[in-house]
Amino acid sequence: MAVNKKKGSQTKYCCRECGSLFLQWVGRCPRCGEWDSLDEEKQETETNLQVAGWVVSKEKPQLLTQVALPDKQGVWATDVNEFDRVIGGGWFEGSFGLLGGAPGVGKSTLILQLLSRLAKIDKKVLYVSGEESASQIKQRADRLQIEQSLIYIVSEACLETISNYISEYKPDFIVIDSIQTLYTQESSSIPGSVTQIKESASLLMRMAKNDNLTVLLVGHITKEGDLAGPKTLEHMVDYVLYLEGEKQEQNRILRAVKNRFSSIQEVGLFRMTQKGLAQVEDATRFFSETAHEQAGCSNYLAIEGGRGFFLEVQALVGETKQNYPVRTTVGFDKNRLLLLLAVLEKHTGMDFSRNDIYINLAGGFRLLDSCMDLAVIAALISSHTETALPHKSLYLGEVSLTGSIRKTSLLKERVLEASRYGFKHIFLPASVAEACKKEELTSTLHVVKSVADLMAAITK
Ligand code: TYD
Ligand code: MG
Repeated sequence: MAVNKKKGSQTKYCCRECGSLFLQWVGRCPRCGEWDSLDEEKQETETNLQVAGWVVSKEKPQLLTQVALPDKQGVWATDVNEFDRVIGGGWFEGSFGLLGGAPGVGKSTLILQLLSRLAKIDKKVLYVSGEESASQIKQRADRLQIEQSLIYIVSEACLETISNYISEYKPDFIVIDSIQTLYTQESSSIPGSVTQIKESASLLMRMAKNDNLTVLLVGHITKEGDLAGPKTLEHMVDYVLYLEGEKQEQNRILRAVKNRFSSIQEVGLFRMTQKGLAQVEDATRFFSETAHEQAGCSNYLAIEGGRGFFLEVQALVGETKQNYPVRTTVGFDKNRLLLLLAVLEKHTGMDFSRNDIYINLAGGFRLLDSCMDLAVIAALISSHTETALPHKSLYLGEVSLTGSIRKTSLLKERVLEASRYGFKHIFLPASVAEACKKEELTSTLHVVKSVADLMAAITK
C-alpha cells in the first residue's frame, strides 16, 4: 500500500502566498505571480494521510443504521446574539474552527469578549498569543471590562510547549492567535509558511480530537482577501468565519464561509467602539445612515442572512489623462463593472473610453449580488451626466448583456422593506411591479425594461 511509505527526501520550494510547490526556485511564483515568495523546504516525500490532516480510523465499515450516536454534543451559547446566529447557536463542544480577517480588524478584541462569556459557564480557557504579550492582552481585557476569571493567557508560539500546557492546565477551550505565528519543531519550514501552518494545524487537530478540546484558530488574510496558508486548512476545520470591515470605518461584519453545524446564510453586525465590538440591533440602516443625494450616488437594498441592508453605491466618472483609463472597484466585482460598462456603451451610446471610473460601496461592505447591477448603472449614469438621482430612490434588478433588466430572488420582499422605510421611487423590472400590484405601498414603482429606459427615466 502506498500510504505511510517513505521514499527519501527532496528539496522543494513552496509559495508563501498561494501554497504551490515547485522543484526549482524561481524569482516569481508562476501560479500567483507574487515576487520572491518561494521558501525552500526540505520535505520527507512520504504519503502519510495523518500528516495531511485526515482522521485515520481503525474501525471497520458499518451500516449507517447501526452507527452509535455520541453523547449529546454541548453548545456553549455566548449570549452575543450577533455571533451566535453566525456560528449556529454557540461554540460546539469539540469543534475545530478558524476565524479570519485583515490585521487590525478586531479579531483579538472579538475573541476576548466572547471568551469572557465562556468563563461565566465555568469553561476553562487557554488563550495562546504568538503576537502579543500577556500584559498587552491584560490591558485590552481591562479596557473591555470583561470577566477575566478562568481565562489563562500565555504568549507562546511553539506547538510542543503549548501541548505541555494543555496537559497541565486541561482547558476546555483553546484559542491560537494567530496560526501564522504557530510552529512545530517537527517541520523545518519557517513560521507562517504554508507547510508550517498545515503541519502545526493537523498536529493540533489530532491533539484536540484526542482530548475533546474545542479549538479556535485565528488567521490573518492577505491583501487579496485570502487566508494565506490557512486557506489550505479550510477543508479540515468545522467552520470558517471572516470578520470584515475597513479599519477607518466602525462597521464590522462577521460571516461564515463554511459551517458544518449550521447554515452560512446569517451575518453578524458589530460596530467598533471605545469599549470593543458592540452588537448592532437595527440592521436596515447599518451601512447607509443617510442616503446622499449627490450626482454619482444611488441606493440599493441587499438581503443577507434574511435581513435587509440599505447600501449606498458611489460612482465617480472623471476624464482621464492617461492612455489606459482606470477601472477600480471597492466592494464590487471589477469584472462585473467592465461588463456593465460594455452594456451601457452598446445600448445607450454613452462613451466611457476617455473616462477613469471608480465604484465604491459605502461603509466597507463587499457584495457579489447581480441584483445590484441597476444601482451601479444608475450611479454611473448619474456621475457621467452630473445629474443627481431622484429624491429617495432605490434601484433593483440584474442587467443582462442584451441591456434588458431582469428580476432576481427576493425582489418583492425588498420592495416591501424599501416602502416601509420611506423610499419614494423604486426602479425595477416589470414582473416585480406586477407581483407587487396588490400590496399597499407608499413608494411609486417605475418599471424599467432596459438600461436605455433607465437612462431616459433618470436624465429627463
Ligand atoms: P485587534 O483586535 O487587535 O485586531 P486584530 O486582532 O484583528 O489584528 O483590534 C485592533 C484595532 O481595534 C485597533 O486599531 C484598536 C481598535 N480597538 C478599538 O477601537 N476599541 C477597543 O476597545 C479595542 C480593544 C480595539
Ligand atoms: Mg490580533
